[in-house]
Amino acid sequence: MNTAVEAFQSKIFDFYEKNRRSFPWRSTTDRYAVMVSEVMLQQTQADRVAPRFLRWLVRFPDVRSLASASLREVLEEWSGLGYNGRGQRLHRAAAMIVEKHGGEVPSEPSRLIELPGIGAYTSRSIPVFADNLDIAAVDTNIRRVLIHELNLSESISPKALLDVAHEVLPKGRSRDWHNALMDYGAMELTGRKTGIVPLTRQSSFKGSRRWYRGALLRELLTSGELSRESVEERYADCPHGIGSIVDSLVMEAMIEEYGDNRMLRIAGESGRGG
Ligand code: ADE
Repeated sequence: MNTAVEAFQSKIFDFYEKNRRSFPWRSTTDRYAVMVSEVMLQQTQADRVAPRFLRWLVRFPDVRSLASASLREVLEEWSGLGYNGRGQRLHRAAAMIVEKHGGEVPSEPSRLIELPGIGAYTSRSIPVFADNLDIAAVDTNIRRVLIHELNLSESISPKALLDVAHEVLPKGRSRDWHNALMDYGAMELTGRKTGIVPLTRQSSFKGSRRWYRGALLRELLTSGELSRESVEERYADCPHGIGSIVDSLVMEAMIEEYGDNRMLRIAGESGRGG
């Protein structure tokens, strides 16, 4: 083994021994629970996810309980985590897992990536954390650590970076290694310190298109239904055009429009008598 690689591994593991963070998803190997945590962590800070992850598992303890819930129940439980589409996709993923995989979250990245809301990173991180599988998973933090510590170019392609990540992976210790890289990236080698720019950025929140989507969904969760007309009145000041935001929520099957007066409600609510 190359000594530079060993030195890098020791540096990361030494840091981890002294500074490791404790999170509830780190003490489970249940693949469903790990999937929930990884989807929640996609764009929400770990400290904010921790209590919501525990609450989620009380409400939806397994794939089948999630699959049989209504979209309303799922969005209510998701509220506050942001990006409601992630909650919706997790719900659809659970339904697919029941239909296609007998209720068992698959362990192969090639099966996982077929599920809604599971992308290249998450399809690999689930078996890493649940099964200690010897493959590399590269998220924003790990990318920054690898680029900085191994003196790589910021313009390295995701594919090439994944190859490097695989080369430096200490075999048999994948779960600990990925947790260690994440802790090092979050606590020691922050984005501000390195100036390495993430490949994707979240839209600035207040007043953004995403902000209006969230506000409208919350109102529909509270009031049950609203006419398109009243929504257009209420959000007349929306700089993105509230009509186009309603249209995209309808297209994504987050909400549905019905009746002559164009009422709006959370999708799948027709049985609720609203
Ligand atoms: N972000 C994504 N996965 C994570 C994990 N397992 N621990 C901390 N932050 C994460």
